[in-house]
Amino acid sequence: MSPPNKKLSSSSSSLSLGSPSFLVLIVAVPLVVISMVVFLLIPQSFSWSSLPSRATRRVGICGSYPCASFPLEEEAPGNFSIFNSSESLIAKELIQSGQAQETLSLKESDEVGVNATAKVIKRYSSLAKVEASLAKARSAIREAARVRNLTSVHEDPDYVPRGPIYRNANSFHRSYLEMEKLFKIYVYEEGEPPLFHEGPCKSIYSTEGRFIHEMERGNFFRTRNPNEALVYFLPFSVVRMVQYLYVPGAHEIHAIGRAVVDYINIISDKHPFWNRSLGADHFMLSCHDWGPRTSKYDSNLFNNSIRVLCNANTSEGFNPSKDASFPEIHLRTGEATGLVGGISPSQRTILAFFAGRLHGDIRPLLLAQWKNKDQDVQVYEQLPKQMSYDYMLKKSKFCLCPSGYEVASPRVVEAIYAECVPVLISENYVPPFSDVLNWKAFSVQIEVKDIPKIKEILMGISQSQYLRMHRRVKQVQRHFLVNNGAPKRFDMFHMTIHSIWLRRLNIHIQD
Ligand SMILES: *[C@@H]1O[C@H](CO)[C@@H](O)[C@H](O)[C@H]1NC(C)=O
Ligand SMILES: *[C@@H]1O[C@H](CO)[C@@H](O)[C@H](O)[C@H]1NC(C)=O
Ligand SMILES: *[C@@H]1O[C@H](CO)[C@@H](O)[C@H](O)[C@H]1NC(C)=O
Ligand SMILES: *[C@@H]1O[C@H](CO)[C@@H](O)[C@H](O)[C@H]1NC(C)=O
Ligand SMILES: *[C@@H]1O[C@H](CO)[C@@H](O)[C@H](O)[C@H]1NC(C)=O
Ligand SMILES: *[C@@H]1O[C@H](CO)[C@@H](O)[C@H](O)[C@H]1NC(C)=O
Ligand SMILES: *[C@@H]1O[C@H](CO)[C@@H](O)[C@H](O)[C@H]1NC(C)=O
Repeated sequence: MSPPNKKLSSSSSSLSLGSPSFLVLIVAVPLVVISMVVFLLIPQSFSWSSLPSRATRRVGICGSYPCASFPLEEEAPGNFSIFNSSESLIAKELIQSGQAQETLSLKESDEVGVNATAKVIKRYSSLAKVEASLAKARSAIREAARVRNLTSVHEDPDYVPRGPIYRNANSFHRSYLEMEKLFKIYVYEEGEPPLFHEGPCKSIYSTEGRFIHEMERGNFFRTRNPNEALVYFLPFSVVRMVQYLYVPGAHEIHAIGRAVVDYINIISDKHPFWNRSLGADHFMLSCHDWGPRTSKYDSNLFNNSIRVLCNANTSEGFNPSKDASFPEIHLRTGEATGLVGGISPSQRTILAFFAGRLHGDIRPLLLAQWKNKDQDVQVYEQLPKQMSYDYMLKKSKFCLCPSGYEVASPRVVEAIYAECVPVLISENYVPPFSDVLNWKAFSVQIEVKDIPKIKEILMGISQSQYLRMHRRVKQVQRHFLVNNGAPKRFDMFHMTIHSIWLRRLNIHIQD
């Protein structure tokens, strides 16, 4: 189903990315102050090679606010007062500015009439309230990050995050609980199905449709009052746009880009929220390979908005402090039932397994090296008819997940479901939920140049280390489960919402 990306890349040169300076978000229009505080749940010792260095994470301007920084290691251990005071300052300033706006507006009311002013007051004060509550949440999460314990200290009837699969179990848990208390998403109602408000719920792009449907159903996190929302969802489906607007074989996707630009123009004309932040508190979501390219047609969408993407390719402008990586899950029947569960490690007789077509640049290398070469590393372009793909996943200790036409591969979640330790072979890929999850604890990353050494690398993992990784894969399953129509806490839907929540925590917005 993947359209031929490569063919198209030349035609879009006018839209190509700038230098890495695009990481710097500077938004300055009258009455708008956005400052960005980079906020990922990362413990002290962690370093993730595929992410930009910590220095680039501290992007943005701080406006009139003290620049609260995260991760915490920039502070002396045990000295928490700097942060504490600046955070409460942020809250105080915001409350005061909210009050100031109110007074100002009340004065104006003599001239412009009660009606309009009442609205203005409501908007200003509700934004100030929202920001103040976010400041408190940030502070609570930062404090939770100080607990250097593999187990969250917060109580929870359903699940208590623990263990090395998390970058910091305690701060994640605290953040999750804060999200449940505070997070509210407004879904724009403009636009008609099939391009808007719907998406595919089966096959390789199912996570896109599932998410849109869940938000439309409105049982979780949705508010109908845009004034109390923390973020605004643009409910278009890139998969549907490709299906309806793309002329197969055409060397451009301008029709899709135009549909998105038109939509944003309607939204920004009718509502005050897009202009207020230039899109920074808005999000789009797509699992299609062309999600990133579609977003390039609107520079605010590309540069400011939260883009939730399966195709989380940092060389295509994916910015982990602003954008969120989202799992691609191949739901052939639309359901995950039957896919989840494996057999015990002792019965896994194949060292490593892969089956898939020669998409992209990496797989040809893998197949050239390993196809029909070794019983331990079983690599197929086409699995023989009598062999079951799902059974092979369950029979293998490690499952190879090379990028195809795009960086994400549904194999990652297939492996996690089948309790097979995923082996990521990709470049510039930010795996899903890596703001929270410590992928190194439950997956192996192999660089493309090391494809010839796959067997050596995997054989080098001791049995006890393998058993630990296998246990952690089982533990992390919960975060990738799809509970159709009835999302459960900590599942894929909720983790996606949590990624968006964390990105919203990274910015301050002020009228
Ligand atoms: C803690 O922060 C204060 C206030 O910024 C600073 O003066 C002090 O030196 C810090 N103490 C330690 C132990 O780092
Ligand atoms: C912030 O400071 C106050 C008093 O200075 C203290 O009681 C409180 O525990 C601190 N909070 C955090 C998050 O450190
Ligand atoms: C408020 O505005 C509406 C339409 O904008 C108008 O019909 C109504 O009379 C106004 N009410 C007051 C009290 O000004
Ligand atoms: C870590 O958390 C566990 C469970 O809450 C607790 O029993 C233990 O004492 C904590 N350890 C430290 C070092 O705080
Ligand atoms: C937002 O900005 C655009 C372009 O600058 C303008 O056309 C539109 O009217 C503005 N929207 C609102 C609600 O003011
Ligand atoms: C994003 O912002 C940078 C810097 O302002 C700009 O050069 C680039 O064209 C923008 N990207 C898009 C897709 O508009
Ligand atoms: C990631 O993006 C770069 C730059 O556009 C591209 O060359 C590369 O092929 C992409 N990776 C994959 C796996 O598509």
